[in-house]
Amino acid sequence: MSTKTKSQFICQSCGYVSPKWLGKCPDCENWNTFIEEIISVEKKKRTKDNDLKASSVEVHTIKTIESKRELRIQTKIDEFDRVLGGGLVSGSVILIGGDPGIGKSTLMLQIAENLTGKKFLYVTGEESPIQIKMRADRLNFNKENFYILPETDLDIVQAVISKNAPDIVVIDSIQTTYIPQLESPPGTISQLRESTSLLINIAKSTGIPILIVGHITKDGTIAGPKVLEHMVDVVLHFEGERTHNYRILRSIKNRFGSTNEIGIFEMTENGLREVKNPSEVFLSQRNYGASGCVISSSIEGTRPILIEVQALVTETSYGFPQRTTMGIDTKKLNIIIAVLEKKMGLFLNKHDIFLNIAGGVKIIEPAIDLAIALSIFSSFRDIPIDSETVILGELGLAGEVRTISNIERRINEAEKLGFKKIIIPKNNLKNIQNKKRKIELIGVENLRETISFLI
Ligand code: TYD
Ligand code: MG
Repeated sequence: MSTKTKSQFICQSCGYVSPKWLGKCPDCENWNTFIEEIISVEKKKRTKDNDLKASSVEVHTIKTIESKRELRIQTKIDEFDRVLGGGLVSGSVILIGGDPGIGKSTLMLQIAENLTGKKFLYVTGEESPIQIKMRADRLNFNKENFYILPETDLDIVQAVISKNAPDIVVIDSIQTTYIPQLESPPGTISQLRESTSLLINIAKSTGIPILIVGHITKDGTIAGPKVLEHMVDVVLHFEGERTHNYRILRSIKNRFGSTNEIGIFEMTENGLREVKNPSEVFLSQRNYGASGCVISSSIEGTRPILIEVQALVTETSYGFPQRTTMGIDTKKLNIIIAVLEKKMGLFLNKHDIFLNIAGGVKIIEPAIDLAIALSIFSSFRDIPIDSETVILGELGLAGEVRTISNIERRINEAEKLGFKKIIIPKNNLKNIQNKKRKIELIGVENLRETISFLI
C-alpha cells in the first residue's frame, strides 16, 4: 500500500473538485469559493484478500430480514419530536443547520434538559464550558448526567464516547471539529465530509443518536453543511429573522418521517418556548380593515396555519415597476399579476407591487394564490376586504379557481379561530360532508366571481 499526498482545489460551497484554482465554480456558480486542500491518497491494490472477503459475505432477501420497530427517544419538546417524526431514532445522525445566533445551541441545551434520566454528552468547539454554564443558568438548567467536552479532535471524541457510553451526543459545531490525519484545516469540505462520516460510523455502530450542529451563512457562500445533507439521516433547518422572535424548525430530509413538517418556537429571555397554536401567532398583529390584507391558510406538514397576505400597490416613481416579495416566490407573483391584467383588466405596469406574508413564514403551496390576487386587487383599488373572511384556492392561468388539498382541515382551523366566512374552490365544496357549520362556506369558480362577491 503506498501513500502519497496531493493538493486539490475544492469549492467550499458545493464540493466541486478542480486540479487548479478557479475564480468561479463551474458547478454552483459561486465566486471565490475554492480553497486548496491537501489530501493523502492511499492506493489500495486489488488482492486475493478481496475475493476471500467477498466469499464470506452473506446477502439477504428482503423477506428474511426481520423488521424491527425503530426505538425512538422522545424529547418531550413536541415541536421538535413532531418534526423528527416522533422522536430521536437510535443510531440516527441529525444535522441541524442555521444562521449563527439563531438559537441552535440553546435548542440543544433545552433538549438535553428535557431528556431526564439520559446521559448527555455535549461536545463543544465553539464555546468554553463557562460560557455554556452561563447559558445554562439563564435557562434555569439543572440536569444531572450532562457532560461537557470542550474538544475538537474527533479521535478523542470517539474515545470519550466509547469510554462513557452516553445516550445522546451533540457536536456543536461540525465546522470546528477535525480529524488529525487530514491535512486540511477544520471547516473545509474534506474535514466536514470525513468528520461527518466518522460520526455516522460511531452512531451506527453504537446506536447512539448524534445531533450535529452546522452553520449556514445567509448568502450561502460557505454553505458547507449543504454537501453533508445526503450523508446524514435527517436534515433540519432552524430559521427565522434574528430581528423577529419566531423561529421555525423545518425538516428538509427525514429517513424516518415526513418532510415539510415544521416546529415553531419563540425566543424569549429564558430560552425557546414552543408555539402550540401557530395561527394565533401569525395573526396576532392583524390589520383590521386595512386594504391589501387578506387571510388565507397554508398546510405546513400536517398542520393548517392561518396567515395574513399583505400587498402594497403604489405608483412607480422609476421607469421600471418593482416587484418585491417576502415569503413567496417572485415568479408566482408575476403569474398572478398577468392573470389580474388579462382577466380583470387591472393594469399594473405603472405600479410597484410589494407582497409579504406576515410573521416571516415562507409559503410554497398554491392554495394561497387566490388570496394573493385579492390582496393586490384590494390594495390597488384601496378597498379593504372583510377581515372575518378566509380565502382559499389555487389560481389557474385562465382565471379559474382550482381545487386544493386538505380542505376540511383548513376549514376546521378557520372555524376554530372564529372566522365567519370561508371562500373555497367550488369543486372542493361538492366533496365536503358536513356543510352545516358555524362558518359559512362559499364556493367560487373563478377570480371574477370571487372579486364581485367580496368587493
Ligand atoms: P445561540 O443558541 O447561541 O445561537 P447559535 O448556537 O445558533 O449560534 O443563541 C444566540 C442568541 O439567542 C443570542 O443572540 C441570545 C439569544 N438568546 C435569548 O434571547 N434568550 C435566551 O434565553 C438565550 C439562551 C439566548
Ligand atoms: Mg452556538
